[in-house]
Amino acid sequence: MSERDFRRISDLVYEHCGINLHDGKKELVRARLAKRLRLGNFKTFPEYIKHVLADKTGNEFSILIDSLSTNLTSFFREGQHFEFMREEFFPLLLERKRKKRNFRIRCWSAGCSSGEEPYSMAVALLEAVAGQGRWDIKVLATDISTKILETAKKGIYNEERVGPVPKLQKNKYLVLHRENKRKVFEVSKSLREVVIFKYLNLMKDWLIKGPLDFIFCRNVMIYFDKSTQERLVNRFWGLLDSGGLLFTGHSESLTGIEHKFNYIQPTIYMKP
Ligand SMILES: C[S@@+](CC[C@H](N)C(=O)[O-])C[C@H]1O[C@@H](n2cnc3c(N)ncnc32)[C@H](O)[C@@H]1O
Repeated sequence: MSERDFRRISDLVYEHCGINLHDGKKELVRARLAKRLRLGNFKTFPEYIKHVLADKTGNEFSILIDSLSTNLTSFFREGQHFEFMREEFFPLLLERKRKKRNFRIRCWSAGCSSGEEPYSMAVALLEAVAGQGRWDIKVLATDISTKILETAKKGIYNEERVGPVPKLQKNKYLVLHRENKRKVFEVSKSLREVVIFKYLNLMKDWLIKGPLDFIFCRNVMIYFDKSTQERLVNRFWGLLDSGGLLFTGHSESLTGIEHKFNYIQPTIYMKP
């Protein structure tokens, strides 16, 4: 892959989804795309790029993004966020809503990958409202990768992946099946009723109706440059209700970004 090919690809990816492939990523891009070239019988990178651009359905572009993005995730990842919600945020949120007789809770997992994050959010919410009357809860879960969204919608995980789910909640929200001798866990109907998966490119229009009570955008912005992060954070602001929270990933602070959020603790921000 020549320098020129790399620039073409990184410009295309940046324009389409904000992912910033700096020079240090060249080897990674080459290695990941080499496989795609082999599978598609493309002899050179320019030939492959031409094909990506000519495919007006956008499928080939999705495959390109899929092979370059990192989908690493886990159930209850960054446990301090879930602890904060359980101990501090949910009691106040529920109290505030009860007073207004508003029993609707809306939140968003932006960059949900294979689903562990939004399902964890749904578990946390269902646990918080358990035994407290009828609540209308929805977790919107979106990602740019159509392939990873298929996995997320299936909601089937192996034993290792459900490891971080506490035993009581595992029994309540995950259904155990045996495939040959392997144990697999399928998310329960109660979780499926709460989580809605959709394709969404964070760089494009969203068509999401606010106000939202909280947004998880964790380990996604790390791939974007500062100006893209700033635009995104301010769009999140616009969607959140007053008192709503934005959670970012452990290495994504809002330092150096102009915004109006109040800092609560590292990676947790509130719209006043
Ligand atoms: C590392 S995963 C993070 C998953 C989860 N939020 C977590 O913290 O465990 C990043 C996800 O962001 C998605 N992503 C990257 N760029 C995106 C964009 N422009 N729009 C929507 N999703 C994007 C990727 O497809 C990937 O699934």
